[in-house]
Amino acid sequence: MVGSVVAAAAVGDALEGFGNVKADPLPEEFVFDPEAAPAALNDAENGAGGAEDERSKAVVLGRNVHASCLDVTEPDADDEETGEREAYMASVLAKYRKSLVEKTKHHLGYPYNLDFDYGALAQLQHFSINNLGDPFIESNYGVHSRQFEVGVLDWFARLWELEKDQYWGYITNCGTEGNLHGILVGREVFPDGILYASKESHYSVFKASRMYRMECVKVGTLVTGEIDCADFEKKLLENKEKAAIINVNIGTTVKGAVDDLDLVIKTLENCGFKDRFYIHCDGALFGLMMPFVKRAPKVTFKKPIGSVSVSGHKFVGCPMPCGVQITRLEHINTLSRNVEYLASRDATIMGSRNGHAPIFLWYTLNRKGYRGFQKEVQKCLRNAHYLKDRLRDAGIGAMLNELSSTVVFERPLDEEFVRRWQLACQGNIAHVVVMPNVTIEKLDVFLNELVQKRSTWYPDGKVQSPCVAADIGEENCACVLHKSRAI
Ligand SMILES: Cc1ncc(COP(=O)(O)O)c(C=O)c1O
Repeated sequence: MVGSVVAAAAVGDALEGFGNVKADPLPEEFVFDPEAAPAALNDAENGAGGAEDERSKAVVLGRNVHASCLDVTEPDADDEETGEREAYMASVLAKYRKSLVEKTKHHLGYPYNLDFDYGALAQLQHFSINNLGDPFIESNYGVHSRQFEVGVLDWFARLWELEKDQYWGYITNCGTEGNLHGILVGREVFPDGILYASKESHYSVFKASRMYRMECVKVGTLVTGEIDCADFEKKLLENKEKAAIINVNIGTTVKGAVDDLDLVIKTLENCGFKDRFYIHCDGALFGLMMPFVKRAPKVTFKKPIGSVSVSGHKFVGCPMPCGVQITRLEHINTLSRNVEYLASRDATIMGSRNGHAPIFLWYTLNRKGYRGFQKEVQKCLRNAHYLKDRLRDAGIGAMLNELSSTVVFERPLDEEFVRRWQLACQGNIAHVVVMPNVTIEKLDVFLNELVQKRSTWYPDGKVQSPCVAADIGEENCACVLHKSRAI
């Protein structure tokens, strides 16, 4: 007998709370805990448990970890009559939902805005909405949301200043797909071109170069994480005979650094690449924040860029991964092929495309609009400054780039703490990305816990800040040497 008491409540709850993370928490006994779950829920293919679980968590590279998998069990012949299976599944889902509420409360490290309420869209979950094919060409499949998709694309084209009759774009599955598409368009425009990307670019950019077998040149970065245009110039001059395809970061993954687009363009022109370059702007996170920061340089198609992409589940706050890709219409004809089976044109990376995502985006854009996003960006930047200042006050090395809400600081020594707050770490540093759902109250809880725990991570409670000058700059480092220099 598995959880039949909660079955009805859980199903009702799941529908009522669709997309609303602020729903009332369930009682404590329903917290999802794979360790405590029934054996049937918990048993790994490899029979993991206890100490084995810990080991399998530690080693993830090159190994499939099945430790917390929920086995699919075949229905018994009499399940339908007893209702046992429905009750069992409802209880699993209720526990899972409770765990999501908990995890949402303690999430700080990834750039996802978890503050939303899409209750009004619950009525659409019963439809298999698929926008396969080109957003601008009706295919034979009628259960689509192209009208929403094109509305959203028009909004983004306006934001990035490209006329309706001059742009092409689509709603992607994520920022990665936007990068894969943008770089592919660049490769089609310049088939022999070399891909240039700063070494702090997202891994999807280097994945694109491997997938498309493109020659790729990694460019150095400044300590802020921005592309180093002196190094860029040197590398361009070494490869003058081939056109350049450049990935420009509008917010790097780890440090939130914004590459200087104007300087990149100037460097290309000075090196003799005029009309022989294609720029893709990876704006996964800040592509939608920068337009609302007054003093930020502009990402616009009035400059000689080829494409821009953003993620829809980051700052915008869609509950499923998605993104937006916009490019110039003139580029897309080289890439696309007609497909008779669809009665449409194939110019996207994927075939079937999530038709729900454009509706979520459309809904948010309508609710918040330009002004709403502006307010949220300002709040994020204010809260990010608050976090950086309080970390520094506590003697913790921390950095915040000028246009960014990504606060980079010394990596906490305790992995348990890192996991609890779901911090993203790289080498000696960790970061918190301040999104609209990250309030001052939440930051205070985090900071107090960090300061309190930190004193227990060092012998005799004598906290010694590690040197992170190479990662975030001497002026931001709180180690003994650099702190004393700063005074
Ligand atoms: C700079 C940058 N580009 C691309 C991506 C990929 O975005 P997604 O996770 O939506 O595929 C990320 C993700 O964090 C990112 O930080």
